[in-house]
Amino acid sequence: MQKISVFLLLIAVLFFQSSSYVALEKERTLAMIKPDGIYGNFTNKIKQVILQSGFIIVQEMMVQLDVANATLFYSEHSEKSFFPSLVKYMTCGPVLVMVIEKTNAISDWRALIGPTDARKAKVSHPNSIRALCGSSSERNCVHGSDSPISAAREISFFFGDVSPVEHWESAVEEDSIFP
Ligand SMILES: *[C@@H]1O[C@H](CO)[C@@H](O)[C@H](O)[C@H]1NC(C)=O
Ligand SMILES: *[C@@H]1O[C@H](CO)[C@@H](O)[C@H](O)[C@H]1NC(C)=O
Repeated sequence: MQKISVFLLLIAVLFFQSSSYVALEKERTLAMIKPDGIYGNFTNKIKQVILQSGFIIVQEMMVQLDVANATLFYSEHSEKSFFPSLVKYMTCGPVLVMVIEKTNAISDWRALIGPTDARKAKVSHPNSIRALCGSSSERNCVHGSDSPISAAREISFFFGDVSPVEHWESAVEEDSIFP
């Protein structure tokens, strides 16, 4: 009898820990469909993959970036030789920006889009989004934030007021449970 109640208690503890763990881990990231993705008619297909992969689309917006916007968005690359070409490409047509949310959104979205260079993605990650619709390391069809800091910056860049996580308090709690 005692063994059974200890066992049930253990189950209950595990259940509550894992369910709160899942709820607490929910995060948001910035997903973007770049001009080649829009012009190539990949928007619906990509959104379908996003939803089928368990993300919810919290917010979305079609925008035409100007040179100032693109320069600011990619400011960390401003010294790189590819920068002028990148800015030109990113301003050549509209982009669709989305705030997407799920457990582990940041790394899961990066995994889904695949390697930066779409030519390599076609070989090493043939099921990735970049393999589907990208054509080079510049024209790689989609963007995803690479870290929680980038996600917060990039979400606020486009959406200002949208919180980068679902519940701030939960996110703090999570740290104390899983140091
Ligand atoms: C665009 O893609 C959709 C599927 O997402 C397809 O049904 C449609 O025929 C495509 N349109 C063109 C012009 O290729
Ligand atoms: C892009 O820049 C224009 C001014 O050039 C500004 O009005 C607009 O808010 C900017 N958009 C974004 C998404 O930063």
